[in-house]
Amino acid sequence: MKIARFSRIGFILAAAGSAVGLGNIWKFPYIAGEYGGGAFVFVYLITVLMIGFTIMIAEMLIGYLGRKDAAASFAALAPQGKRAWSWAGMMGIWAGLWIMTFYSVVIGWILHYIGVTLSGLPATVGEAEALFGTMLSEGIGTQLFYHTLAFVVIAAVLLRGIKAGIERLNLVLMPILFAIVGGMFLYALTLEGFGQAWAFMFAPNWHKLGSEAFVVAVGHAFFTISLGMGAILTYAASLPKKSNLVESSLSVVALDTLIALLAGLTLFTFLYEYGSAPAKGPGLVFISLPAVFFEMGGIGTLFALLFFIALAFAGLTSAVSLVEPMVQYLIDRYDYSRLRSVVLAAGFFYLVGIVALLSNTEAFGGILSFGGKNFFDWVDFITSSIMLPLGGLLMALFVGYVLPKSEVYAALHESMGRGFALWYGVLRYVVPVALLIVMLNLLGIVRF
Ligand code: PFF
Repeated sequence: MKIARFSRIGFILAAAGSAVGLGNIWKFPYIAGEYGGGAFVFVYLITVLMIGFTIMIAEMLIGYLGRKDAAASFAALAPQGKRAWSWAGMMGIWAGLWIMTFYSVVIGWILHYIGVTLSGLPATVGEAEALFGTMLSEGIGTQLFYHTLAFVVIAAVLLRGIKAGIERLNLVLMPILFAIVGGMFLYALTLEGFGQAWAFMFAPNWHKLGSEAFVVAVGHAFFTISLGMGAILTYAASLPKKSNLVESSLSVVALDTLIALLAGLTLFTFLYEYGSAPAKGPGLVFISLPAVFFEMGGIGTLFALLFFIALAFAGLTSAVSLVEPMVQYLIDRYDYSRLRSVVLAAGFFYLVGIVALLSNTEAFGGILSFGGKNFFDWVDFITSSIMLPLGGLLMALFVGYVLPKSEVYAALHESMGRGFALWYGVLRYVVPVALLIVMLNLLGIVRF
């Protein structure tokens, strides 16, 4: 099958578009808040930079050399008798669709909040809390409407394919997103609350770092750079020949980390500055921030509008990368048309997404909760804390132990030089051990 290729900058922006998402602007600040800041942020940063960056190169390599969908690329590269590796790709493909079930609902909230901003921001944290709480627990119609809107936009982009759809979307939206986040950060720098925000994010507070926080931090490191599920792999299958994977990986990881830190610092600055109780949990961005924007007066409304637009852009550019692996798989494997593949893949997240949406509501929350979490939170936890790290581990083992070293070396030595040995060593020894500890921890076998 002929695959349209990304341009160089198109690929970097698309991969960065995948990485920079709700994870950076919506999720990172609230989990950093929930798990106490400093130490959590530290574990997250170390994981992103050491483990994440290392695996990102490996994941790109599988797509770049395999040139097929996420499952078939494994099979194409695996030696005879080891084709079962394609299951690693298959798991990733499904992880993406499952993530989309809650991701689309959150994009829906964001689209709704663009409207809220235009019709008047809530004046106090109390009002904001009531507004968000009511939407979440009672606003089934509203959420359904915006979840559907998100679905339509995502499907429309995917229908146009890699070049006219995904690349074009990222080329337009990502620069705008960077400008908005950067601009708001510069404004935050001028406020006094910045110092407190800085201390909150970077002051080490090790006693707060239990094993749950550790697992969440590692899981988030995977989530935020879109690792372990074949999104980056699928995009890399459309890279031009002779691409520099190391440089691309570095750009993506750096951009993603930068945006997460800028967004986190900006948000916490606003929260400290305006003295509102930092709301915990997913409501942080939807409760504390709108009230803060209201406090700022006229410019605040403009800021709110830009902020939610940036958030929507971040979400959409990631969303397409969460669904495209399945779309590509259906096209490659079953020879389906793009239209049919998009309808099937997007239809899945749309329908299951409705269950996720309902699990937050008062009417259905009870029957859609088990073991202390509702359906929405379970999907989030299982995908980002288990499936993505597991997918990442399998990719590391595949490139580190299954692919012949000569092949890996041939593809990377030019861009890595002497760094190759270090990278290969980390991939073979450090990554598996670190991820094994995370898995054992999850199973309750290792606790700290
Ligand atoms: N990286 C995205 C975010 O931070 O929101 C989420 C994501 C996209 C995860 C694509 C995994 C993925 F393959």
